[in-house]
Amino acid sequence: MSQALRVAVVPGDGIGKEVTAEAVRALEAVCAASACALRLTHFEWGADHFLKTGITLPEGALPMLQDGFDAILLGAMGDPRVPDNRHAADILLGLRFRLDLYVNYRPVRLFHEKLCPLKGVGPKDVDFVVFRENTEGLYVMMGGNFKKDTPDEVATDTDLNTRKGVERIIRHAFEHAKAHGRTKVVMADKSNVLIHAHDLWQRVFKVVAAEYPGIEAIHLLADNLVLQMVREPAQFQVIVTSNMFGDLATDLAAGLQGGLGMAASGNIHPGRLSLFEPVHGSAPRFAGKNVANPMGAILSAGLLLEHLGRREEAGRIEAAVRWAVEQDRTTSDIGGTLGTREVGAAIAERLKT
Ligand SMILES: NC(=O)c1ccc[n+]([C@@H]2O[C@H](COP(=O)([O-])OP(=O)(O)OC[C@H]3O[C@@H](n4cnc5c(N)ncnc54)[C@H](O)[C@@H]3O)[C@@H](O)[C@H]2O)c1
Repeated sequence: MSQALRVAVVPGDGIGKEVTAEAVRALEAVCAASACALRLTHFEWGADHFLKTGITLPEGALPMLQDGFDAILLGAMGDPRVPDNRHAADILLGLRFRLDLYVNYRPVRLFHEKLCPLKGVGPKDVDFVVFRENTEGLYVMMGGNFKKDTPDEVATDTDLNTRKGVERIIRHAFEHAKAHGRTKVVMADKSNVLIHAHDLWQRVFKVVAAEYPGIEAIHLLADNLVLQMVREPAQFQVIVTSNMFGDLATDLAAGLQGGLGMAASGNIHPGRLSLFEPVHGSAPRFAGKNVANPMGAILSAGLLLEHLGRREEAGRIEAAVRWAVEQDRTTSDIGGTLGTREVGAAIAERLKT
């Protein structure tokens, strides 16, 4: 038996709790079927805990996670009872920023033609990866209000881009392309109007691309990127972009895969503790109703295993989800009739065989 994989499980809020339960079931099933020991520790951080205790991310949580765990599996954060979602910012953005998880990794694969809203588009046309910068850009919460709540109010948010931050995400995209036999990297920005911050992206992209002569480096403006993703998704292999444009482009990409319920992600610092979560939020309207699609969460557990070097188990999770889609063992968002738990159970059974 190899050393146990130590996974911190943070189900969070709303449907996060339900989909994480199924992701855990899949992890346990795939690990039980191979010689892969697993040690799961649950943390109840989220809105309920915050409303009860006033605590978002407890003091000492970061070193505790860094010292005691190999990876974090998260559900979703967000609850209407916390109108400013302060707990979500502290927990999720806190982990992303303070663990310096600068790579937002979003594989985009279509498992079956019936899931794609585009006419005549099948699995061979939708198979790319988006790398979204995850620690900078417009999401650093630098800014302020002046004359708040008056007719003269001014509000600002700063788009923060550092050379180090831009270079490391672009380099990561090229390294991924090189390691996976991909021949094209597309970088998307708005350098035509963001003439300082995105000019930096342009310059760094050219410098880094020159180190990878076998890989074609293509620049697209971010508005054109989203148009092209709909018009001809097959042209993409690897996309790299900023925090905000990546946020938007990956939801569009989820649409190509069958919707938010199908999309998985990794928040990664290569070689260090990283966090895996479905792309969707806590969908409060669906919470507790056994209707949320657990596949994005289950696929995120697969990315976690891939990150920890368990490629075979990761591949088995993806194959089991693909099988469930083919067999229509799915929730209603992608045309099925099953509940969250029933989809999770079918996938776990498949993983045991
Ligand atoms: N990473 C995160 O934790 C994260 C990400 C996005 C939003 N949020 C938070 O989640 C809350 C709700 O946000 P929202 O409504 O904009 O986004 P959302 O992703 O929670 O839901 C948007 C819609 O997508 C569909 N959907 C999402 N996940 C699904 C699933 N697993 N199965 C089936 N359908 C699914 C539903 O129709 C839902 O109404 C907010 O508080 C927001 O801040 C959190």
